[in-house]
Amino acid sequence: MSMIEWKEPYSVNIKKLDEQHKTLIQMINTLHDAMRDGKGNATLGQILDKLIKYAADHFQCEESLFTIHKYPDHIHHKHEHEEFVKNVLVFKEDFDSGRIALTLKVMNFLKEWLIKHILGSDKEYTNYLNARGVY
Ligand SMILES: [Fe+2]
Ligand SMILES: [Fe+2]
Repeated sequence: MSMIEWKEPYSVNIKKLDEQHKTLIQMINTLHDAMRDGKGNATLGQILDKLIKYAADHFQCEESLFTIHKYPDHIHHKHEHEEFVKNVLVFKEDFDSGRIALTLKVMNFLKEWLIKHILGSDKEYTNYLNARGVY
């Protein structure tokens, strides 16, 4: 069973960004399944790398919309993205050097951060961007 499933309440009402959120959720599920199935650290590391890269691209995508449309909460929102990337990169470094294992606790952090961010900060831009023709 998947760890998380995208649901309608997660929608930010912007098609491209909803698709990216669905992909991110899918990637967390893939990582979770690989961990559960006892895949080796090399495989887990590759999946984690892809996830970090995809998340960074997604954040970039949101932030360029903020720039184009002069979103008032840009700085605060960008800061949340940066904190997340920083935390995950620190984890990745510890993971690569064998200091730390990918555990359910780490999986829960990824899952909970993403859902909380989508339901909180991400959904806050819906009205502002929709009002400027971004769907
Ligand atoms: Fe997002
Ligand atoms: Fe965001």
